[in-house]
Amino acid sequence: MRTLTLFNHAGGVMKSSLTRDVGYTLAAAGQRVLLVDLDPQANLTDWLGVTGVTRDQTVYDTATRGDALPSPVHVHGLDLIPSDVSLALAEGQMMGVVGAHLHLRQALAAWSDRYDAVLIDSPPSLGQLSILGALAADHLIVPVPTRQKGMNALAGLAEAMATYRKLRPDLTVALYVPTLFDARRSHDREALTALRGLLHPLASPIADRGAVWNDSASAGQPVGVYAPGSPVHRDVLRVTAEIAQAAGLNVQIEEAPA
Ligand SMILES: Nc1ncnc2c1ncn2[C@@H]1O[C@H](COP(=O)(O)OP(=O)(O)OP(=O)(O)O)[C@@H](O)[C@H]1O
Ligand SMILES: [Mg+2]
Repeated sequence: MRTLTLFNHAGGVMKSSLTRDVGYTLAAAGQRVLLVDLDPQANLTDWLGVTGVTRDQTVYDTATRGDALPSPVHVHGLDLIPSDVSLALAEGQMMGVVGAHLHLRQALAAWSDRYDAVLIDSPPSLGQLSILGALAADHLIVPVPTRQKGMNALAGLAEAMATYRKLRPDLTVALYVPTLFDARRSHDREALTALRGLLHPLASPIADRGAVWNDSASAGQPVGVYAPGSPVHRDVLRVTAEIAQAAGLNVQIEEAPA
């Protein structure tokens, strides 16, 4: 089992979109996949069409008390531990509990025979739930938009990584993923060139194509279901193959027909 956490404290960089669509693509290719939604915004949960979540279905008791994980929800061929806004209360509870940041890693270890890949979606912060997700990972996957906002986040990311490595010296970034790339904008092209010099390993960029992503989110469907064969779907297949290779997952991702 490989555990990958989509991590960046900057908001709106495609963490949840990639968790959903890379997870779906791995599951469609035959991997046993678990997704964990650690964000009280619950975008990942919503965008898979899962509603009516209660706190006991979330990681709340695992995070705050070290309990076993709750039974996942089955959706679109994968398993999901969903989120709900009530998960926000875990932040305060965790602060008083020694070792709480390792609870998710410990709980997932008990499920290592059940899944090939676990993908964790983290909130846009450096708070308790983000630390919980980062320390549960074998590898981090870090989406970085090809914008000033992406560049601005890099110093904070490096600082957070240095702190987390004190507790988990083996924690690495398997792949940085340039996102929301618009090749028509010179600003984006310059930012991509800068990222190529700064971040290793760096995936090929994911194009800024808002409409399909937003519509698939509204439909509660991965783009592989909502718009198979679309340019967005081709981006998803390509980045999934790159992530799988970087993380050492034993899976073959077929390209979509051109
Ligand atoms: N390739 C894309 N092109 C344009 N827009 C996209 C693309 N992928 C995702 N989006 C949209 O960009 C927004 C931000 O994406 P997303 O919510 O996945 O980022 P996030 O990092 O999880 O955000 P947050 O930090 O708030 O959790 C969403 O509205 C999503 O639908
Ligand atoms: Mg998100």
